[in-house]
Amino acid sequence: MLKLFVTGGAGFIGSAFIRLALAARPDCQVINFDALTYAGNPDNLTGLDAERHCFVHGDIANRDQVLAALPDDTDALINFAAESHVDRSIVSADEFLRTNVLGTQVLLDVARARGIRRFVHISTDEVMGSLPEDENAFFTEASPFAPNSPYAASKAAAEHLVRAAHHTHGLDTITTRCGNNYGPRQFPEKLIPLFIANALADEPVPVYGDGRNVRDWIYVDDHCRAILLALEKGESGATYNIGARNERRNLEVVESLLRALDKPASLIRYVKDRPGHDRRYAIDPTKIEMELGWQPQETWESGLKKTIQWYADNPEWIARARSGAYREYYARQYGVEVSAR
Ligand SMILES: NC(=O)c1ccc[n+]([C@@H]2O[C@H](COP(=O)([O-])OP(=O)(O)OC[C@H]3O[C@@H](n4cnc5c(N)ncnc54)[C@H](O)[C@@H]3O)[C@@H](O)[C@H]2O)c1
Repeated sequence: MLKLFVTGGAGFIGSAFIRLALAARPDCQVINFDALTYAGNPDNLTGLDAERHCFVHGDIANRDQVLAALPDDTDALINFAAESHVDRSIVSADEFLRTNVLGTQVLLDVARARGIRRFVHISTDEVMGSLPEDENAFFTEASPFAPNSPYAASKAAAEHLVRAAHHTHGLDTITTRCGNNYGPRQFPEKLIPLFIANALADEPVPVYGDGRNVRDWIYVDDHCRAILLALEKGESGATYNIGARNERRNLEVVESLLRALDKPASLIRYVKDRPGHDRRYAIDPTKIEMELGWQPQETWESGLKKTIQWYADNPEWIARARSGAYREYYARQYGVEVSAR
């Protein structure tokens, strides 16, 4: 029996990971511990096997709640829980420090107290800052930390705490750093679901600045397969960069989507750039490829096709995710209204 304690499992990547782990490992049982912030969506959990998935509402920064929920026969704790949106961290960083930094330390402390076998921390390439646009430079596991947003700084701090818990207390840890994920069930403030949802509703598609910022895109299930592999076969204390060698300019992403949806380029609206917007991220995944034999299964084309199909098939999910607080946020951020369709 593989007993997993997943934090942030009602979010985009955490819920994809739970689906994947339950499907790939029939002996796997998951406790899903999530505070259900604006980004935590119970709709992401529909259809999960209730015999093997148990949801617990709780906050990773609340030690008593984590202590009450984490059984001592847990094989691994996988920490996805985070405030994850850069734009929100620019408006206010408080929650980012509370959840991403203090929350991670609480999990490390409780994992140690409970004797949890392995602690897997999900991080981001953004801890390494921005790469020059035209150079053949990539993020490796040895790249220096250079976070440029409060979000990235909080994730960098969390990585340091994970490293310290391994070094000082001998906790068995794995850290994974990934680039931009796309796929089903991503909260529609993020770039690809935002573009798809707006284009499907014939609404303008906002693009920051000149649209030339480069991101390294990976289909969410490929990321989750890499996490499962690192959890089962990774070396204690190691960091693994996860990327699909798929660099795209934001404008290229929006053009691919509009083409696939048969929508006109006139929907594109350039909006004022975000402060401190990193220019280029690009991941060198050689280590996880060579050491663990991981390879992405989706191409950009196949992943995008699956993603578009999922959002087109699930208008109810989009409408519910886009209601309430999201609409106020969107109007404030982009200066335009969004309908709840
Ligand atoms: N989305 C990406 O492209 C990407 C890329 C690299 C790394 N990451 C990292 O992967 C992880 C998951 O990202 P995501 O896109 O699924 O995020 P998300 O915002 O969709 O989900 C985050 C989840 O964490 C929960 N949460 C927030 N604060 C909490 C708290 N205090 N206690 C318990 N639960 C809490 C939310 O309710 C939500 O379910 C994050 O750590 C993020 O930094 C994301």
